[in-house]
Amino acid sequence: MKRALLVAAMLLLTLALVACGGGDGDTAEEVGDAQLGQQLFNTGGSTGTGCVTCHTLDGTELVGPSMQGISERAGERVEGQSATEYLRESIVNPSAHLVEGYDNLMPDIYEDALSEDEINALVAFLMTQ
Ligand code: HEC
Repeated sequence: MKRALLVAAMLLLTLALVACGGGDGDTAEEVGDAQLGQQLFNTGGSTGTGCVTCHTLDGTELVGPSMQGISERAGERVEGQSATEYLRESIVNPSAHLVEGYDNLMPDIYEDALSEDEINALVAFLMTQ
């Protein structure tokens, strides 16, 4: 009897995971390699200009807003854009939407310099923050 309950619970959990994760590309795992993204965040890859130059992960503000809690805010920044869509656009076209209170100082260099996989990795990493 206990075992049947456990099986039922596991089934429900699986269903819930499938329902939430449903392939909409909106969680870190579905988007890219978050570990690579963390490296790129620190180094900037081939640009040599790490995101850390301007963005912290701990709430401290530098030139740009901190990425602390960004995965929760990103989906609410621009109407009609999901969190991952917004993050991608913020990287490839930084002047498309400016965060209130900040100037247009983010370099527009990442789209050309980074590969699609690298941009995906950055988005995935930000979705873990
Ligand atoms: C020279 C400074 C600078 C660098 C380097 C930089 N950014 Fe930015 N970034 C900014 C500024 C300033 C803003 C706020 C203005 C705007 O929205 O463009 C911003 C905004 C953002 C936003 C939107 C944040 C929000 O709260 O909505 C994201 C996401 C972002 N940057 C990601 C990155 C990533 C990823 C990298 C590295 C690949 C990076 N930035 C490199 C300065 C920088």
